[in-house]
Amino acid sequence: MEAIKEKIENLIKRINEHNYSYYVLDDPTLSDNEYDEIFRELESLELKYPQFRNINSPTQRVGSPVKSGFKSYEHKIPMLSLANAINDDEISEFHARISKWLNESNIDFVAEPKIDGLGVSLIYKNGQLKRALTRGDGYNGEDITHNIKTINSVPLELRHSIKEIPSFIEIRGEIFMKNKDFIDLNSAQKEKDDKIFANARNAAAGSVRQLDPRITSSRKLSIYCYEIGGIDGLSFRNQIEMLEYIKEAGLPVNPLSKKVSTLEKMIDYHAKLEKNRKKIDYEIDGTVMKVNDYSLRKTLGQRSRSPRWAVAAKFKSKKAETQILDIEIQVGRTGVITPVAKVKEVDLSGALITSATLHNQDEIDKKDIRINDFVLIERSGDVIPKISEVIFSKRPSNTSKYNISSNNCPSCKGLIKRIEDEAAYKCLNNDCSSRKKGILQHFCSKNAMNIEGMGPQIIQQLMQESLLEEVDDIFKLQYDQIVHLERFQDKSATNLIDSISKSKKTTFSRFVFGLGIPHVGQHIATILDKECNSSFDNLKKLTLEKLETVDGIGEIVAQSILDYLADEKNLVVIQSCFSLGVVINSGDKKEKSDLLKDLTFVITGSFNSFSRRDIKRLIQENGGRVTGSISKKTSFLISGENPGSKLSKANDNNIEIIDEKTLIQMINEN
Ligand code: IVH
Repeated sequence: MEAIKEKIENLIKRINEHNYSYYVLDDPTLSDNEYDEIFRELESLELKYPQFRNINSPTQRVGSPVKSGFKSYEHKIPMLSLANAINDDEISEFHARISKWLNESNIDFVAEPKIDGLGVSLIYKNGQLKRALTRGDGYNGEDITHNIKTINSVPLELRHSIKEIPSFIEIRGEIFMKNKDFIDLNSAQKEKDDKIFANARNAAAGSVRQLDPRITSSRKLSIYCYEIGGIDGLSFRNQIEMLEYIKEAGLPVNPLSKKVSTLEKMIDYHAKLEKNRKKIDYEIDGTVMKVNDYSLRKTLGQRSRSPRWAVAAKFKSKKAETQILDIEIQVGRTGVITPVAKVKEVDLSGALITSATLHNQDEIDKKDIRINDFVLIERSGDVIPKISEVIFSKRPSNTSKYNISSNNCPSCKGLIKRIEDEAAYKCLNNDCSSRKKGILQHFCSKNAMNIEGMGPQIIQQLMQESLLEEVDDIFKLQYDQIVHLERFQDKSATNLIDSISKSKKTTFSRFVFGLGIPHVGQHIATILDKECNSSFDNLKKLTLEKLETVDGIGEIVAQSILDYLADEKNLVVIQSCFSLGVVINSGDKKEKSDLLKDLTFVITGSFNSFSRRDIKRLIQENGGRVTGSISKKTSFLISGENPGSKLSKANDNNIEIIDEKTLIQMINEN
């Protein structure tokens, strides 16, 4: 028996080492036939001796479909985004900013291709792959472990030959589809009369968001890893050391990543990468420049959504020439009127374009854009194309100027008005059906309530049937009301009712983001979630003074939230959603304690390993209070780097001053 166990272990080892040589070193050790043979031998032994089957055996990569949808988990360290640099000058500014901040001009950077895929966090505990999460909103991601396990290049366990295996490590990387695999997939999809993907990124994203891992395993996905999040039991001095380590541990690392030690080398790397872009067999949209040294990264810290120590230098966006045939206006959910240029159909990096946004009247005037003009349009990433410039040398004699103010709302025909201090004209009619449609569409969208099957056309149809007007109407819909409608059949009606019902169990940030409160995007919704402890009642109780003290929320956002909540009609609709079964669950929050009960904290300065918001949350999660200014009631001042006047005030009042580490000790040692 021992011999069988050993044999199984040996086969697993050989398969894993082959995967490592193949995917990480790009140097296969087994032929396809040899690989298949070993794999089958392992399968048959595991079948015969199920007692020796290990969940991280390579035969166990494709599991069963998940029934309950994707679970959401909090990232130990948030997955931030990157600030952009759009040209060489902005790369220089980034370099200058860092040098000035650190007071040092010889700083090493690491340059890496910016892959146009989707970020993922791989969590290994004691060397075993435990969970894989999407980036999500940066704070919480969705559990896609069942699909990530199907990717042969992701090791199910870290390689043991390396010195130390940390007890916990979050490895971040990019999942993508190589151009060739994307083309093959689309041809296969076409043959099956199945969905065609617009680009490789969407194909990769669609593949990891499957409930059935058998579908994901049939798609060819790739990964390159480039960062770590949380880690226990091991530390690195710099990026190069970290990349070498994770590569040795079995994770694919982009061979094009390179240390660059001067500004000239950074710019040169970026230019060469752009020049060679076509030769690379996957989509990239720029270079990520990162400070190499981790202690310098710590000193630099982060802004609310991106680290100061990195920048994404973007490639120039692709442009195409076309002609404006007409200008139309559209009205969105907030009533903002957007002018759109209808253009002669043109191919722009693989997508056929027939319209381009003109943003607002100021943009039309500034660029002197007229109907019949010849223009260059551009598109970066997935965003809507825009007009980059008018080709004045080709201006025909029959151009006509365009002015939004001479129009009424294209939907309700009501008056439109330019809001003071804003560039946009707005439809002021709250009952405008296009606005209502936009609100419903936003509420049902993926990052909000995620109601599958409730797309723009279905919403429009249900509005025409007078079944939908406000968002709570969604939860009143019944199978019998929709099954006989055009476009619906038994299955599609059942599916829609099911997905509505499934969406009712939601999170605070999804629901609040879904309401479409002006200025409240996903990020602000997450901040509010933490501030209100996932309770909508708490949100209603917030005052302007209180809201303005919340990190990340300014005056305009605070006022917008209060205006929204002051409108009785909005509250009636929200209350109705709750009465119809919408339940906010607080997700995978840490358990609460009352370790800091009766203690009041004030925070000043900036911190290395936490944002102020994290510190505040930590205190509140443990029962403490956080206030904005020192008073007799203050128990502790938590002081970081560059403290403000609160420090001297605390000293004057004999208030104990502690740093972030002491706070963590207070919580952990109890
Ligand atoms: S570093 C805080 N490195 O770009 C550090 N990101 O716009 C953030 N991405 O969400 C990640 N290639 O999904 C990093 N070599 C690379 C990358 C990369 C692609 C993506 C990543 C991130 C997004 C930020």
